[in-house]
Amino acid sequence: MTDLIGELNRLADEAVASIAQAASLDDLERLRVAYLGRKSRLQDALKRIPEFPAEQRGAIGRRVNALKAGLESQLAARRGALAETRRRPAPDVTLPGDPVASGRLHPVTITARRILAVFAAMGFEAATGPEMEFEYYNFDGLNIPPDHPSRESFDTFFVDLPSPDPKRGRLLLRSHTSPVQIRVMERRRPPLRIVVPGKVYRRDALDPGHSFMFHQVEGLMVDDRTNFADLKGVLDRFLKSLFGPGTKTRFRPHYFPFTEPSAEVDIASSLTAGAQTSFAKKRWIEIMGCGMVHPNVLRACGHDPARVQGFAFGMGVERIAMLMRGVKDIRLLFENDIRFLEQW
Ligand code: PHE
Repeated sequence: MTDLIGELNRLADEAVASIAQAASLDDLERLRVAYLGRKSRLQDALKRIPEFPAEQRGAIGRRVNALKAGLESQLAARRGALAETRRRPAPDVTLPGDPVASGRLHPVTITARRILAVFAAMGFEAATGPEMEFEYYNFDGLNIPPDHPSRESFDTFFVDLPSPDPKRGRLLLRSHTSPVQIRVMERRRPPLRIVVPGKVYRRDALDPGHSFMFHQVEGLMVDDRTNFADLKGVLDRFLKSLFGPGTKTRFRPHYFPFTEPSAEVDIASSLTAGAQTSFAKKRWIEIMGCGMVHPNVLRACGHDPARVQGFAFGMGVERIAMLMRGVKDIRLLFENDIRFLEQW
């Protein structure tokens, strides 16, 4: 009897292994016939039960029945698994994959980079400076007199920390990127061609056109002969690159303490997507400030105004982004609502 039980156990192991490896429903049917069919070894064993003494027959019968039940449930499970893979066709590995959600650049960054790229093509390199600045670089070095209104605390964020260098005045959050003109001209000799992207801060209340923080791109070109015609040529070419070759520009006399003469640059508003923004209702839209670097500024940086000259300009990045894309409210650029950002 132990021989027969041993044989049945080996049969069970073999059957379980074959069922697990069956590759198709046909294979499975062949295995079912082989292990459970009328001519199977299991049926043989059943037929041989009467050969054993009566007290052993019960144990053999129970073993055979347990085996049958076990194999049937294994067959059913494997049948289910094979049917399932047949319903789900093999994946087509040549199909494009599911897109992976990834971040993207912020509209202000995209716009700043476009601006820098146009100037890079004209030989301007990028430079940066600190957002927390000395009073000297934000004002004095730029020929901004001590009684100028922008030096009042209601216009500028002064920082409530002791100045690490009192000769350069108090600390403040820079109100424009022009201080970087001074920082670069102090360290380097002309010829210079730089553009300066960065954040600036002003004590302005938030409204559709204003924010206490925004971005500017400053530009500076200095050598021994750069003149106002160069300034007009560079900026005209820049604005045509950004807003299209048909863009009309206008240079309107203005005043900045650090440039002389100074001008504001306008573009014809019909050319921009922003024709509907509040500041674009007029025919001409103011887009940037510029001028020839003031002799006092050159002198403050140790350069001789009789030998070097150049121009500077500055523009607001948000304003340009808004004009290019018809954005009506600057706050949309800072609220970081994905539904807005995704449209860029
Ligand atoms: N700094 C000026 C502003 O913030 C812009 C400017 C830069 C004007 C350079 C002239 C030259 O308004």
